[in-house]
Amino acid sequence: MLPPYKDPANSIDVRVEDLLSRMTLAEKVGQMTQIERTVANASVIQTYFIGSILSGGGSAPAMNASSIAWADMVDEFQTAALSTRLGIPIIYGIDAVHGNNNVYGATIFPHNIGLGATRDADLVQRIGAATALEVRATGIHYAFAPCISVCRDPRWGRYYECFSEDPRLVQQMTRIILGLQGMLPEGHPKGVPHVGGGFNVVACAKHYIGDGGTARGIYGDDKEYAYNELYQVHIPPYHDAISNSVSSVMVSYTSWNGLKMCASQSLISTQLKQKMGFQGFTISDWEAVDCITSPPHVNYRESINVAINAGLDMVMVPINYKEFISHINVLVNSGQISRDRMDDAVRRILRVKFVAGLFEKPMADRSLLGMLGNEKHRNIAREAVRKSLVLLKNSKYSSNLKLPLSKSARKILVAGRHANDIGLQCGGWTMTWQGTSGDISIGTTILEGIKNTVSPITQVDYIMCPDPGLTSSGDYSYAVVVVGEPPYAEMLGDNKNLTIPQEGIDLIQNVCSRLDSVVVLISGRPLVVEPYLPLMNSLVAAWLPGSEGQGVADVLFGDYDFHGKLPCTWFRTVDQLPMNFGDEDYDPLYPYNFGLTTGVGKAG
Ligand code: GLC
Repeated sequence: MLPPYKDPANSIDVRVEDLLSRMTLAEKVGQMTQIERTVANASVIQTYFIGSILSGGGSAPAMNASSIAWADMVDEFQTAALSTRLGIPIIYGIDAVHGNNNVYGATIFPHNIGLGATRDADLVQRIGAATALEVRATGIHYAFAPCISVCRDPRWGRYYECFSEDPRLVQQMTRIILGLQGMLPEGHPKGVPHVGGGFNVVACAKHYIGDGGTARGIYGDDKEYAYNELYQVHIPPYHDAISNSVSSVMVSYTSWNGLKMCASQSLISTQLKQKMGFQGFTISDWEAVDCITSPPHVNYRESINVAINAGLDMVMVPINYKEFISHINVLVNSGQISRDRMDDAVRRILRVKFVAGLFEKPMADRSLLGMLGNEKHRNIAREAVRKSLVLLKNSKYSSNLKLPLSKSARKILVAGRHANDIGLQCGGWTMTWQGTSGDISIGTTILEGIKNTVSPITQVDYIMCPDPGLTSSGDYSYAVVVVGEPPYAEMLGDNKNLTIPQEGIDLIQNVCSRLDSVVVLISGRPLVVEPYLPLMNSLVAAWLPGSEGQGVADVLFGDYDFHGKLPCTWFRTVDQLPMNFGDEDYDPLYPYNFGLTTGVGKAG
């Protein structure tokens, strides 16, 4: 006779309560503990009843590990968890923020800022579904996505992880959750976690709350903003995420008026859980509980006490789990953390695990292994690249050249490191935490896309760096100059100057002063471009397009018209920042929602 919690014929609430009633304190604490894969093994999982494991950015079983190797790793952890007394499966999480981007060969979609430029919620939902499938293809159940922060200052290193500066657009883009987790059944109760099935994952709306409004664009910095900015700008997307039944919410490093989010009972328990009706589980960001204090980790036990009582359910410890577990046991046994609070946390975690089907299908579905990077997903990514491109300029006083470009020119020049580098076009959170240049995974560079598109008679020359020997009589019909930012993530992307890196400026001056040129900018955010505009015939914002660079050529050469609109304000100078649509004295170079078209080519 199966115990009720193991019987799928029972309701999830019955199964949760039965299992909860059987659990020891040690088993409950283990469910609240998420550890990084590098400190995880069968013994640790079995000794501490660990409930969740993650891959931090770039943390893989091996360099360029296959989907089989990923699935083998997760299944090994899962086998250990299933061998514990109650056999509660682990949930394995990863930052699949623009595809399953830690995994070699996965489809890499444009980062969210480019998806915001598409204004296409249906497309974004399809991207969520494709991402979920490629995550499950590696045996992983849980994606720390989507980031639904509202980015308000491009000096912030996480600008590109956001869909827009406009909360209304971010709200529309939360449809990605229905792709990741699956469509909601008719009448599904609001706020209750939902995961459709084995092709879906548990999603995670992050980072709660207000990280996009961080002061001066500095990572995790305090923000003294008015109550109405919090409730009019940063909270609205979480209403939509909850309506879309997001199963988890990640609590941010940031502070609001001096109080760290992980310590804020009013924002976690009262606002998110009680007022907004969120019934999934909250999880801290990486060591965010340690960071309640400054310096971090001083009086760690008290920080844990404050965070769990504030409403944190799972803690992304993720390395120092022994100390964490030791402290939380003391806090519960001393009554500082009540048994009821523990049960509420564990109940929420178990509910999501039951909803995700982990008790019935805990092991990787090996029939999905071949779904990684499949053609259908790459075509969705290529469509997203096309629709994300924003045409900012398309005329020059002294020249007739403008987009779309001729496919049958006799000789053209393509210039710039970013034209021929998968890593640069993907940006941060790709294969590694920070991202790297180079041939880091499978995809099509912008240069390859151009070569695939022009006629066989067209000679395509390529230079990576400025060519002092280039002359205006080089009988090139035109040049495509692709410049931009190096990859970065989080605090390493904080940048006060926002200039195009010098090599790119040099290239613009070298090529655009001699040849009719289209400049394509690969960046996670608006950059200073005004001084160089007179040199360019055309300027295209391509954001961080991901693995399918062919989508850029599809539009440059007129197979498709431009579709993208700015999801953010394009400033003139950094002295104007922060500057967002609706501000007084709003004087951008290009305003929010700006985007030209050529009138040539198919729509989107
Ligand atoms: C990072 C990020 C968060 C990510 C987590 C796990 O610090 O803030 O977005 O999900 O840690 O990698």
